[in-house]
Amino acid sequence: MNNRWTPRIVVFQCQYSLYCEADQRWMDTQLPPHIKLISVPCTGRISPLFVLNAIQGGADGLLISGCQPEKCHYKEGNLGARRQLDEFWRFLTYLGMEEERMRFAWIDLSERGRIQQELADLEEAIRAIGPIRRLVTRAIPVGENP
Ligand code: FES
Repeated sequence: MNNRWTPRIVVFQCQYSLYCEADQRWMDTQLPPHIKLISVPCTGRISPLFVLNAIQGGADGLLISGCQPEKCHYKEGNLGARRQLDEFWRFLTYLGMEEERMRFAWIDLSERGRIQQELADLEEAIRAIGPIRRLVTRAIPVGENP
């Protein structure tokens, strides 16, 4: 794959998912321009439509970053998100999307450097498979057989 190509990555971060201070400062001020941070109240609030919008907007990969399973402020919002988004992602992979383009990371205050590592790993995996492909190349008019 072309090494000059830089994948675009969207990070959905739960606002309560606390990174260590240095990591949060890095997220707030030094995030590379090809990584877009979207803060959400809880990963449980991430609709599959958010994921679809990110992909339609040109994201090559997504990271869902939330609280540890037992530390979700909305009891099991993160577990619900995992179930729902996993299911949605399986549907997208059925349509041809590569599985490697989306990851979950439950990160805790004590895991210094983990968010950078997760993003680096995701970026490396996406570089290996290349830019995202459009799943639908043309609209099919109603009544026409594909
Ligand atoms: S409050 Fe953080 S994942 Fe639910």
